Amino acid sequence: MAEKFYITTPIYYPSDKLHIGHSYCTVATDTMARYKRLRGYDVKFLTGTDEHGQKIERIAQAQGVTPKEYVDKIVAGVKELWKELDISYDKFIRTTDDYHVAAVQKIFKQLYDQGDIYKSEYEGWYCTPCESFYTDTQLVDGKCPDCGREVERLKEESYFFRLSKYQDRLIKHIEEHPEFIQPQTRQNEMINNFLKPGLEDLCVSRTTFKWGIPVTFDDKHIVYVWVDALSNYITALGYGSDDDSEFKKYWPADVHVVGKEIVRFHTIIWPAMLMALNLPLPKQVFGHGWLIIDGGKMSKSKGNVVDPKVLVDRYGVDSIRYFLLREIAFGQDGNFTNEALIQRINSDLANDLGNLVSRTVGMIDKYFGGKLPADREETEFDASLKETAAAVTTKVDELLDKMLFSDALTEIWTLIRRANKYVDETQPWVLAKDDANKPKLANALYNLAEAIRIVSVLIQPFMPNTPKLIWEQIGVNDEAARTWDSAKVWGTLPAEIQVTKGSVIFPRIDMKKELAELEAAMKAAQAASVANQTKQAEEEKEAEEESVPEISIDDFDKIKLKVGTVIASERMKGSKKLLKNQIKIGNETRQILSGIAPNYSPEEMVGKKVIVLTNLPPRKMMGEMSYGMILVAEDENGELSIASVDKADFADGSAIS
Ligand code: MSP
Repeated sequence: MAEKFYITTPIYYPSDKLHIGHSYCTVATDTMARYKRLRGYDVKFLTGTDEHGQKIERIAQAQGVTPKEYVDKIVAGVKELWKELDISYDKFIRTTDDYHVAAVQKIFKQLYDQGDIYKSEYEGWYCTPCESFYTDTQLVDGKCPDCGREVERLKEESYFFRLSKYQDRLIKHIEEHPEFIQPQTRQNEMINNFLKPGLEDLCVSRTTFKWGIPVTFDDKHIVYVWVDALSNYITALGYGSDDDSEFKKYWPADVHVVGKEIVRFHTIIWPAMLMALNLPLPKQVFGHGWLIIDGGKMSKSKGNVVDPKVLVDRYGVDSIRYFLLREIAFGQDGNFTNEALIQRINSDLANDLGNLVSRTVGMIDKYFGGKLPADREETEFDASLKETAAAVTTKVDELLDKMLFSDALTEIWTLIRRANKYVDETQPWVLAKDDANKPKLANALYNLAEAIRIVSVLIQPFMPNTPKLIWEQIGVNDEAARTWDSAKVWGTLPAEIQVTKGSVIFPRIDMKKELAELEAAMKAAQAASVANQTKQAEEEKEAEEESVPEISIDDFDKIKLKVGTVIASERMKGSKKLLKNQIKIGNETRQILSGIAPNYSPEEMVGKKVIVLTNLPPRKMMGEMSYGMILVAEDENGELSIASVDKADFADGSAIS
């Protein structure tokens, strides 16, 4: 029976139009899945969408549709994109699927029943875009340490998962299984930055919004979206359902492919959940790097996203897949530029590969009317070409087993370049001048066709369409000459091959002309998306404002506002935003940190009358305590203005009501 191989991508948030960065992760995973299938594995390749959470709820509300209506629309687009990129997934899970919801509810209940989940109260910060909790000290300049956006203060009754209980077992597992977190650098990061400093229990339920999986035994609560999302890797296999045969067959996963920023969810929270459920851990979590553009992570909020559809439409899916996997070493960050893309298409695809195919087919056509004779005579250059082919096929396996896609492609191109050199060495056009050399000529052209066949077999996982085009031209009609193992057997092509001249597989691109056109096409696509985005952001904001609940006068009475006078102010070391102010409020003086440095200098602050919220709990920011908050107005450009009283000599300490 074939050995199984279970591989997953992250499940994507459907709030974003997927960009080339998302495609990168999926293309890489697809390549691995295709490779393993070619090697004869029984592959299960899972992808899908992560559809719950506050972010989605807000967007849907803004658009006046239900969250389900909203996600249904987006998910269709996600599937379409994967189709365009030839993503050969075996299963697409949506976290709104019934079977997933039921299984997550079961998991949550089991963990609660066995004491791994308990009820308490959460107080801290929440970043909605990242759907992530943070403590005071984890914030950077009062903002989300991952994405830099505003966080919200949360205080709610919550269920907690005993993550801390699993700390030692996690460290032990990681240390005993060096292959568990790849690449190695991510492993050190997890141990030193998260596990060694100590894990806190994790808040795993929410009550302040509704769009999530309800906790069955306490329906005020919904399950924290990451617990919901991570479970997809097992619920997709039927775990927790009546039929868990696939789970029994495919779990544990052989590899979860994820972006580097979500490695911590996959190597801390997820394995701890599995330990609690008494299930085996995935064999590997591979944290790849980011596609960078203009020095930053490509992201919708920065407006620097590259639309994969524009690229696929212009250059074809195989060129884009080739570029992504060749240009960026998997695991590291890599820059995306239009120049680099066109350069790769021209040099590697049009020049090296495309030329080799058209020259070889062209010469067989010209010198032999398209059909090679069986009568061949070896030349002194053959051995070296064959040796290169043998070495390359072995190396490609080794490299792909480690998901070193770029290195594997470099190897394959070694054979392509070696074959091009063989053309120069054997000089078929010289051999063709003398009929006595015909067997040598036939031999040289056969070897070239065979080298091309081997290349076409090896590029299959990366480029699903190009091999077929090559096979049509050099006449690889027999399935047996297309199998992965056949790449290792030199001479698989039949002696009397019949070639068919076809169109150029990778036309050369005029860089200068194309750059201008491509930029225009990208700008047009971006403008359409920005217009859409702006509309969406406005709607979201409105929805947020609309969704602010009304409060009673009793609620307002709980807010203690007083007039204060700033008596000293200085910049906080290491922060561009924070000022450390000493504020006299009647008889007391309080230290209050405030993010107003972009608009007020310390000198301007001294002497100012401010309004202070005095009954906030003390809070530590960047190592300093803050006892309250200065009220500030913010306009739509982020410009700040301090709220004050209209009499400059009004007594500080006065209450505001
Ligand atoms: N929904 C979560 C994953 C839950 S998995 C149980 C999520 N979704 S996401 O849509 O934000 O991101 C999905 C994947 O796309 C992540 O692995 C992320 O790293 C990847 N990428 C998003 N932008 C990227 C780049 N610019 N470059 C490379 N990969 C990027 O996180």
